[in-house]
Amino acid sequence: MKSREQWGSRAGFILAAIGSAIGLGNIWRFPAVAYANGGGSFFLPYLIALLTAGIPLLILEFTMGHKYRGSAPLTLGRISRKGGEWLGWWQVVVSFVISSYYAVIVAWAVAYTWFSFKLDWGSDTGGFFQKDYAQFATVSPGSFGGIVWQVFLPLILVWIVVFIVLFKGVRKGIEKANKFFIPLLVILFAIVVIRAVTLPGAAEGLNAFFTPDWHKIWSGNVWVAAYGQIFFSLSIAFGIMVAYSSYLPKKSDITNNAFITGFANSGFELLAGIGIFSALGFMAQTQGKEVGDVVEGGVNLVFVVLPQIINTLPALKVPFAVLFFLSIIFAGLSSLISIVEAYVSAVQDKFQMSRKTAVVIGAGLSALISLFYASRGGLYFLDTVDHYVNQYGIALAGLVEVILIAWVFRKLDTFQKHANAISDIRLVFWWKACLGVITPLVLGYMMVKSVIEDIQ
Ligand code: PHE
Ligand code: NA
Repeated sequence: MKSREQWGSRAGFILAAIGSAIGLGNIWRFPAVAYANGGGSFFLPYLIALLTAGIPLLILEFTMGHKYRGSAPLTLGRISRKGGEWLGWWQVVVSFVISSYYAVIVAWAVAYTWFSFKLDWGSDTGGFFQKDYAQFATVSPGSFGGIVWQVFLPLILVWIVVFIVLFKGVRKGIEKANKFFIPLLVILFAIVVIRAVTLPGAAEGLNAFFTPDWHKIWSGNVWVAAYGQIFFSLSIAFGIMVAYSSYLPKKSDITNNAFITGFANSGFELLAGIGIFSALGFMAQTQGKEVGDVVEGGVNLVFVVLPQIINTLPALKVPFAVLFFLSIIFAGLSSLISIVEAYVSAVQDKFQMSRKTAVVIGAGLSALISLFYASRGGLYFLDTVDHYVNQYGIALAGLVEVILIAWVFRKLDTFQKHANAISDIRLVFWWKACLGVITPLVLGYMMVKSVIEDIQ
């Protein structure tokens, strides 16, 4: 059998892990989730979720992939003499589902980068996005060329990039792409944020974002939202980090890498929150509204609200718009590559096929499905699937993972030894307590509480 591919350098692995983590979730999900769940006071559950669940789980997934050298289904199968393989497949199926609409969003960002040069979205940015663009109102009927150029061509371009990167493999593809995307992303996005915080009204936006609402701390929903954000944002329980760490060389630091990835992602998240809320504060001031009335998250934040803000910028509209949408593209592409790799590697491991065949089958299927999301009416399905996956899938997948590994397969001791033998930072009893006791108890309790709150 051919030996498994490997990362070329430690920095290559870290950048790829950070590339997976930093994505659309940081830019459009975190600011809105934080605001809706208490603003400044959300940082407490968020930090607890990061320190007691996010980073400990990242360490766990890195250790699993490194020790068993397989994609999530293979690794979970090896841990448990097949008993856990289903969990791996469940995770990569979720990744598959996400990839088919994540690609569409990246493609829209490609189109919007193009639109940026002439501010093609006009003054009714909502109408432009929801009707003209996503519903093809202006390009119908008969002008098939319009649809191809504006919607399907960007989507095909995105998939071509994903195909090329994954065809080239771990070192020459994934690692190289992230070494290019991530530094560039940080520079471009930093410029966007600096511009945003220096806009009039930015202070009001930041005030709204950071003002705590301590009453919310007692709500189960807020805690589930914090864990959900951490898991989604760190790409945990999707089979991604297990696959990425299965390509680590024997001698690799595990624990330190996990801390770096976790803090880099949260740092970017905070930066995005500051940038987005500064821009929202500016918009509220221009329109004479309260910041709370203009807060948006998700697709609408990026493709409706931001273009609206760009329209009213005092100067340099085009460069700001281009830098913003390029940031979305780089953040999105590096995450998309990782989600696709999660199931490509799983198929490759399971059926002993070549990487290229697995890419053609796996990514090919997802690409076909993505054509549907990009079609007329697809926006509605994209929103629905996204909502469903976020609301019910993510925190649950993480919870099941810790319970199985800590209590059913009882592997925490073995993993602790494995990680400690090769890492700088030593895992102590605290790590096992987080995964085996604190996370299952807090998250389990809060989930039940939030279901009850929802029913009432
Ligand atoms: N972690 C990435 C983000 O924050 C996206 C992602 C989520 C990637 C789930 C893969 C799986 O956007
Ligand atoms: Na993220």
